[in-house]
Amino acid sequence: MNLQIGEFSPEELADMYGTPLLVVDVSKVKERIEEFKLHLKEIPHLLCYSVKANPIPGLLKEISDTVLLEASSPGELLVSLKASKPDRIVLDGFKDSDLITAAMKLNVFLLNSDSIQELSEIGKMKMDLDFQVETIFGIRVSLGLKGESDIVSTSTLEDKFGVVPEQIRDALRISNEFGLELKCIHTHIGSQIERPGTYREVVERMFSLPHSEEFDLFDLGGGFGIRYSKTVPSLEAFLGELSDAYLEISDRVGFCPKIILEPGRSIVGESGYFISREKTRKKKGRVEWSIVDLSTNHLLERLYLFRTYPSWNEGNEVKIGGPLCFSGDELGVGRVSNGLLVLKNCGAYTISKSSQYNLYPRPKVILVDGYKSWEIKEGESYLKVLNDFGAD
Ligand SMILES: Cc1ncc(COP(=O)(O)O)c(C=O)c1O
Repeated sequence: MNLQIGEFSPEELADMYGTPLLVVDVSKVKERIEEFKLHLKEIPHLLCYSVKANPIPGLLKEISDTVLLEASSPGELLVSLKASKPDRIVLDGFKDSDLITAAMKLNVFLLNSDSIQELSEIGKMKMDLDFQVETIFGIRVSLGLKGESDIVSTSTLEDKFGVVPEQIRDALRISNEFGLELKCIHTHIGSQIERPGTYREVVERMFSLPHSEEFDLFDLGGGFGIRYSKTVPSLEAFLGELSDAYLEISDRVGFCPKIILEPGRSIVGESGYFISREKTRKKKGRVEWSIVDLSTNHLLERLYLFRTYPSWNEGNEVKIGGPLCFSGDELGVGRVSNGLLVLKNCGAYTISKSSQYNLYPRPKVILVDGYKSWEIKEGESYLKVLNDFGAD
């Protein structure tokens, strides 16, 4: 069966825009957002898109009417402001005093603090401000739960994020001292979670945290796994487990905090395709290699999580390598047909983690919506790459 991205074939897009090319099917992204809302309809919720997964402004502008945006750095706050309003932005991550002041001056919707120290700093700074701050404040807590892999496990008691549950009391005390209304407890388990039951555990542990009943908002972060392989459950399974756990527990304990979710990968991952062209076909001994113009510096998770991206192509399987000068620059075993390789599920954590190693330019990004396609990030020229490395 031929692959269509919107109403386009990969060949048409490669001819129109050149390669390597990241294509995001924006109508699929919008459908995914609606899918989230549909499966969460039983519980009070707010949906945020975590911009780190794919922060291209042209994409954010397409979706910012339907989701809030979650930013975790000064750059992500700036890009979110290009696409949305401050009162639709959630700010997470480590924050210095400049970022805290900016967030309060802007009155972002929610500011989740990472530590007691950060919370005290926020409190002190808020007291010095001579205007009303509307921002809601939260504290990030580790639930002592492990994600699927060590590198993307972000709610254990040992990793660098958040506070441990016993510190919630201190967080409430500090907030009272400074007149901060601490309304939200926040956590984020990790990325590419593949067991829906993990979200049941997250909900159970959030409700069991000390003083949990004093919080109006439970922000559960993101992490929902996507179908790099067919064994990963559907979004419906993840959200069904989460909603059922919420309904059972909130009914039992008698309070109903609003749930915030911050998915990134799950919103954009399956809507993105990398299209690349074969540059060389060669035999090394018995092994047939196809060297394409896409490389692992745009697919970083291929390197550190050993992720394989499903390819669409037909034909014989060959080993596929990129042009970079290190042996790890292998895209896997796959098929290259009519000189093209198309990798699926590349919408998340590809362009946002991309580098210019070997002084290769980062790729162009386009959006497709049915019969329409347009460029949202131009491909880099070699002049830009050289300037980025300090050439005159
Ligand atoms: C605080 C926070 N929220 C949300 C996300 C998004 O995670 P994912 O893309 O796996 O849904 C991340 C990812 O690192 C995160 O750190």
